[in-house]
Amino acid sequence: MQTMDLNELVRAVRPFSMVDEGSLTDLAQQVHATVLQGIPGHFVECGVWRGGAAFLMALVLKQLQVRDRRVWLFDSFEGLPAPQPIDGPAAADVAANPSRYFDNCTASLEEVQGAARQLGVESYLEFVKGWFENTLPQNKTRVGPIAILRIDADWYESVSCCLGNFYDQVVSSGFVVLDDYYSYDGCAVALHEFFGGRQIHHRLESRPLLGEANAHYLNVTVCKGPETWALMRARYLLSQDIASVVPAGDRFILAGSKSLVPLIPSYPAELLESRICFWSSPQSDHLAIAELNGFRHDGATFLAFAWPAFWWLDCYGELAAYLRSNGLCVLENERLVIYALEESRSGAVPDDQSTST
Ligand SMILES: C[S@@+](CC[C@H](N)C(=O)[O-])C[C@H]1O[C@@H](n2cnc3c(N)ncnc32)[C@H](O)[C@@H]1O
Repeated sequence: MQTMDLNELVRAVRPFSMVDEGSLTDLAQQVHATVLQGIPGHFVECGVWRGGAAFLMALVLKQLQVRDRRVWLFDSFEGLPAPQPIDGPAAADVAANPSRYFDNCTASLEEVQGAARQLGVESYLEFVKGWFENTLPQNKTRVGPIAILRIDADWYESVSCCLGNFYDQVVSSGFVVLDDYYSYDGCAVALHEFFGGRQIHHRLESRPLLGEANAHYLNVTVCKGPETWALMRARYLLSQDIASVVPAGDRFILAGSKSLVPLIPSYPAELLESRICFWSSPQSDHLAIAELNGFRHDGATFLAFAWPAFWWLDCYGELAAYLRSNGLCVLENERLVIYALEESRSGAVPDDQSTST
């Protein structure tokens, strides 16, 4: 299981993208989760401007040393076409004041390719210059299966063209991200029209931009499969937390029943399953400590409480006190509390407790 500092990658592409930090982080997590979960396909951005979001996808692939997937960049490299009335008042305002919108989102192909070289990702990228209505149909077959389709093209006509040409190529459990769903009316209409017309049932997911108190949303993400990005993201973050503190190959105890399984890191499934000792709730505190030591003697080196199993630490008071004095809390956040059991393994656990019933 590989962990990586996604913030560092987001910082590297910051000068080349107008996309907010939260959406960029989300995108990097989606690419990482897609690769870890073995969801096949390439990565496509329609509407790249200076290239930052596409570069980010490539940087994640580079860090993971994934060489058999490409990032496709579709853009006019001449800026936005004119919006239509269906795109709404915010779009009309932008059209009336192009200088306020990064000179109508203009960046040349040469400039973007230069930035890609600077970041060392050019060998992961496929640039296609031109208007979508021409370039998308011409390149559909070349692109092939798509793991993530990122549509950041603002207007109704452009977004409709991207969905019409590429949606069917997005693989099962792949993602479609609509950056402008909340910004421009035409983007929202294009999505609703396409989904309604095709009777597509996949759910639209949005998260607040900066936590619950903020009135803005990141974007709209659609997971084209039986799951949601929320569930996949929770699982991804859990797996990254565990991988950040539990050395590869170590066995760890997971407090709570197997019904937590949807949240359990499942990639690579066979490896992780063999490393997890599921621990269903003990009958008493006293038994809890004895059972813990049973796992410990069987080679478990860490104990993880994944939400919602935090109640264990309130309910089993003796176990909690025991962990405080015999274990080392190595991670505590809203998803997980993890104790290293190394201390107890080296003899701090009294023998009578490890054998009592
Ligand atoms: C908001 S910018 C993209 C921002 C970019 N994704 C980023 O990371 O900052 C929108 C881009 O879409 C492109 N675009 C919009 N409609 C297009 C179309 N029909 N054909 C080609 N390019 C288009 C524009 O040239 C522009 O670069």
